[in-house]
Order: sequence, then structure tokens, then C-alpha cells
Amino acid sequence: MWLCCSLRVTALLFAALPSGFSSHESTGTEFVTAFLENMAYYHPSPPTHRLLISALYNRTQVNVTIKEMDFDTSRVLWVGQTEEVALPRWVELGRSNVSSRTVHVSSSSPVAVLSVNAKGSSIETSVVQPVQNLGTEYFVASLATPTASSYRIVIINTQSANTVKVSHSSSAPPVAVTLGPYQNAQFQIEPPPTATRVTADHPVAVLFGHPCIDRTECTCGLVFEQLSPTGSWGTLFIVPPSSSWNNTNQLLLLTASESTNLEGVLPSMPFSGSQSSLNSQEVLQLNLAPAGSPFHIKASRPVSLMLLNPGLTSFTPEETFSSCHLLHALSGFSNYALLVVRTAHTDGVGLGEELLPASVTWTQVDGTEYSQALVPLGSEPMQRVVWHKDSKIGVYNFGENTNGTKSYGHPALSLKVEPDGSKCKVGVFELVQEEKSWSDALQHCWAASSQLVSISSPEIQQRVAQALGEARNSSMAWMGLRRSLLSGAWRWLSRDPVGFSRWAGGEPGDPLQNQCAAMLLEPERNFIWTAKSCCQTLPFICFQSGSEVPFP
Ligand SMILES: *[C@@H]1O[C@H](CO)[C@@H](O)[C@H](O)[C@H]1NC(C)=O
Ligand SMILES: *[C@@H]1O[C@H](CO)[C@@H](O)[C@H](O)[C@H]1NC(C)=O
Ligand SMILES: *[C@@H]1O[C@H](CO)[C@@H](O)[C@H](O)[C@H]1NC(C)=O
Ligand SMILES: *[C@@H]1O[C@H](CO)[C@@H](O)[C@H](O)[C@H]1NC(C)=O
Ligand SMILES: *[C@@H]1O[C@H](CO)[C@@H](O)[C@H](O)[C@H]1NC(C)=O
Ligand SMILES: *[C@@H]1O[C@H](CO)[C@@H](O)[C@H](O)[C@H]1NC(C)=O
Repeated sequence: MWLCCSLRVTALLFAALPSGFSSHESTGTEFVTAFLENMAYYHPSPPTHRLLISALYNRTQVNVTIKEMDFDTSRVLWVGQTEEVALPRWVELGRSNVSSRTVHVSSSSPVAVLSVNAKGSSIETSVVQPVQNLGTEYFVASLATPTASSYRIVIINTQSANTVKVSHSSSAPPVAVTLGPYQNAQFQIEPPPTATRVTADHPVAVLFGHPCIDRTECTCGLVFEQLSPTGSWGTLFIVPPSSSWNNTNQLLLLTASESTNLEGVLPSMPFSGSQSSLNSQEVLQLNLAPAGSPFHIKASRPVSLMLLNPGLTSFTPEETFSSCHLLHALSGFSNYALLVVRTAHTDGVGLGEELLPASVTWTQVDGTEYSQALVPLGSEPMQRVVWHKDSKIGVYNFGENTNGTKSYGHPALSLKVEPDGSKCKVGVFELVQEEKSWSDALQHCWAASSQLVSISSPEIQQRVAQALGEARNSSMAWMGLRRSLLSGAWRWLSRDPVGFSRWAGGEPGDPLQNQCAAMLLEPERNFIWTAKSCCQTLPFICFQSGSEVPFP
């Protein structure tokens, strides 16, 4: 039985790409986060702090640990399963400055993680970004509200000792804090107009929030969001109108890390005309007009844009749109997805297994190629994928209760950046450590309903390289590339065009001797390719495309 000798390399297909390759997918195998003080640490309502962990692969082992109190729990999840992991109430940070109450998630295959911090009617969510998306520089904009001084940031360290610096203005000296593995540090931030700058020697996660921001009916509630490092900022933002969020008192916060010109906004915006630029570290706060039209912001340098209400929600710049997203609906809310899609592509959007019905109403965003639409997700708790077959889209996930006393918001979790027409299905690479000729390898993959892998783009090369990174045990492996016997031209089994290649120096060499292609399993040489005689026996790489839509 061939399984005895094969090593299943559970596909890191959607895990982050190695450095030098920027990925905006929210899936990964390592995460850190923390739980901000909600209303007040002494508030009598019992907190329910939890993580919603969604698996994309079968037999995914997930561990959740909190070092400070030896909290440790382990689960095994199946593709399409979302597990709710409840955390002990002491996980909530009070007003500590440095603590070890950091929640650490590790998994054997990529998962997506949403954090839910609830107490009484105060509830908020944030996407927990995988460690590979973290950065070493962040800017945090607080808001000019009467409670401005209560805005907090929590800086969360990963596994190595780290020094972080926090500076409120360019003139004052930064405050430096040394953090041990998985420690976090909490700071109050200064009121605007200047953003607070956070830098670190090694990547950190940064949460920004307020324990009790005013809502309707004399209530208040927590808002928070995990921030994007400056390396993930962008220059074009499509801002749906406040009517589509069904929310009043919406505020936008725009932050620049360096001098930036702004353009393309509505005339009613304060910075069209007179204020068309932002200085370095400057913050701009805008009230979103109650019945305004959708609009866009275009910046000459990357900026960050956040929305207050519903919850605190980061805007996704067009540069980091994705083709496949995961949505959550939470109990106790009317839940919605707000979609931003190229106007020419609005008929290719799917929810679960089906295309969206034609009854969805799209509104053109003036001055851009985009339209936006609101899709109700009901009020039962569930997860669903939303995707586009051949375009990247922006998706926000939010919810409100009927009287507006609670709301949450976050960008939907990105499961896959590049569109591939697969409705979010997840494929698996497999390195078979059994030596076979190229044609026997081909037969072997077929028998297992897969195919020798076709590496027709730099993205696939990176994914394969990453999947193999830890598992290699041989010097090279066949892939699905061989010369045509008639023309001598190289052909992929997938029939993708042969444009991209990674031949080693001097390769592919003699066309009569070397007719089949193998990948060198050497990270030091970037998994470059070599051509060999097809009769040589080598291990090989099969690729099985996903068969089920996860989260239908
Ligand atoms: C995952 O496991 C379930 C239950 O055993 C099975 O029905 C399904 O086919 C498996 N999916 C994949 C992609 O292996
Ligand atoms: C933490 O708070 C204590 C008491 O307010 C203070 O003495 C200490 O300097 C703070 N530490 C940091 C790292 O800010
Ligand atoms: C989870 O924890 C178990 C027991 O400590 C360990 O053997 C396993 O490697 C861990 N798995 C992951 C994915 O961290
Ligand atoms: C907006 O609120 C009104 C009532 O105020 C409600 O009828 C409507 O369904 C809500 N729409 C959305 C998108 O929340
Ligand atoms: C708002 O509605 C919730 C139920 O959705 C209810 O429990 C709460 O009492 C209401 N609050 C006010 C101030 O009406
Ligand atoms: C690596 O190869 C050796 C010999 O070829 C074999 O004994 C060993 O089990 C392999 N290891 C893995 C992880 O496949």
C-alpha cells in the first residue's frame, strides 16, 4: 500500500508566502492575541471571551495556550468546522501595563481566527492576523472625542524577547519596553492630531480600542481592532455610504506615516480643496454624512483608514482585496456582508456554493470602477464563504441589534487572495517519497485522483516551496512538466501556458537526454528546477484540488 511510504504534506497552500512575498490572507498556523478590558474589569456581567477558529483542512490540530496561568487546550478540527474556544475570564486585561495574558494559537494546518470579546451587551470582534502578517512598525490614531484619553493600545509579542518603542510625537523621546516571549504591554494613547508610533525589533501584534465608547440609549460598549502594520497599508479605499451600514455617528480615521497627497473624494469632504495633503504621522478625522453617497480616497503614499461604528473596522485598501473570504454571523445580531466589487464583475460573486441572486442591489461608487452591495446574513450563528470566480473583492462583516445598543464590525477573513474559480475550495500538495519514473509517478497521482503538480506561476512555486520546506527528505522530485515528443517544447500537464520557469543555471540542457522536469528540494537554492531523463526514478509531487466548498 503506497500510503505506507508517502509523507502527506498537508498543503500550506494558503499559508503565508515567505518574506519578499506579501500575503494578505488571514490564514496561518501561528497567532497571538489578547483581550482588552471590556467596559470595566470590575463590571458585574460575566465576560465571554472566545476565539472562533475555522479549519480549512481535515485533521487540523489546534492548540490554544495562555502562558501566565498554564491554560492549555487542544482540539482536532475538520474542513469547514468552526470551533468556539471559550477562554477563562481572567484572560481579560485590566489596566495592567505588562502582562503574560497573551493567547497563543498554533495549528498543524492553516486556520482562520476571529476574536470575540463580550460582556453584557458590550461585544466586539476582530480578525486575529497570523504571525506572518505582523510587522515591526505601526501608527495608531486616536479620536478626538470627550473620552479620547481612554483609548488604549496593546502590543503583543511573539516567541522571542523583543524591545518595543512607543512615541506620541516626533519631539518627545519614545518610551521603550522590553517584552519576554508572549508578553504584552498596554498603553494609553494621546489625543489627536498626531498618531502614536509603535516600533519593535521583531514583529508584534497591535490591538487598538476603547473599553466603553458611547452608543445609543445611554449605553456604552467596547470597540477594538487589530491594526495593520505600515507595510500592509494601501492607497485606494472605497468607502460605502453610511446608509449601507445602517448606522449613524460614523467616523473615519485616516492616518499617514509620511507626507501624503489625497484626491478623489467628495466635495463635501473637508480635505478636498484646501486640505489635500497630510503630514507625516498626521491623523484626519471625518464624520461620514448620514445620507452620503459612497466615495473613495486615493492617496499618493500608503495610508490606513478605519471606521468607528459599527464597532471599530479597518478598511481594506484595493491593493489587498482577495478572491475568497470567510464571513461569520453572530447570535443576537442582524448580520451583514458589505461587498465592494468591480462594476463589470458584479455578476460573478458567490455565497457558499451558489452565485448571489440577481436581486442584490449594486450601487456604483462615483469616480471608481467599483460598486457596493449589502447582503443580509440573518441572525443565526454560522460561517459562510463569499468569493469571486475571477476578481478580487473587498468584504466587510458587521452586525447590529435592533435598537442600536450593540454592534460589531471587521473586514471579512481573507482565505485566498488570487481568484482561481474554485469557490474557495482548498487543494492539497503531496510529496510522495517513493521513487518512480516520470510516467509511473503520473499514473500514481491519477490513481489517487490528483495530478503531478504544474508550477505555472511564481505564486504556485512559492506555495509548493513552502509546503515542502519542512518535509523534504530527498534531493529532487518530479513535477508535471515534460517536453513534447514532437516539437521539443515544454508543456505543463495542467495545459497552463509555459511562461514562468525556475531552471537552474545551464538547464534544461540537452533536449534529447533531459525530457522531464524535477524540482530540487533545496530551500537554499530556492527550489530551482532541473531536467532529467524521464526513466530515472525520483519521488514526486501530486496536487489534489479541493472537492468540497468549505463553509457552504
Ligand atoms: C474530511 O473528512 C470528512 C469526514 O471524514 C470526509 O467526509 C471528507 O471527505 C474529508 N475531506 C477531505 C478534503 O479530505
Ligand atoms: C507599569 O506601571 C507601574 C506603576 O504605575 C510603573 O511604575 C511602571 O514603570 C510601568 N511599567 C511600564 C513598562 O510602563
Ligand atoms: C499541540 O500540543 C501537543 C501537546 O503539547 C503537541 O504535541 C503538538 O505538537 C501541538 N500541536 C501544535 C500544532 O502546536
Ligand atoms: C436599518 O434600520 C431599519 C430600521 O431603523 C431597518 O428596518 C432596516 O432593516 C435596517 N437595515 C440594515 C441594513 O440594517
Ligand atoms: C435593546 O434590545 C435588546 C434586545 O435586542 C434588549 O435586551 C435591550 O434591553 C434593549 N435596550 C434598550 C435600551 O431598549
Ligand atoms: C526519509 O528517507 C529515509 C530513507 O530514504 C527513510 O528511511 C525515512 O523514513 C524518510 N523519512 C520520512 C520522513 O519520510
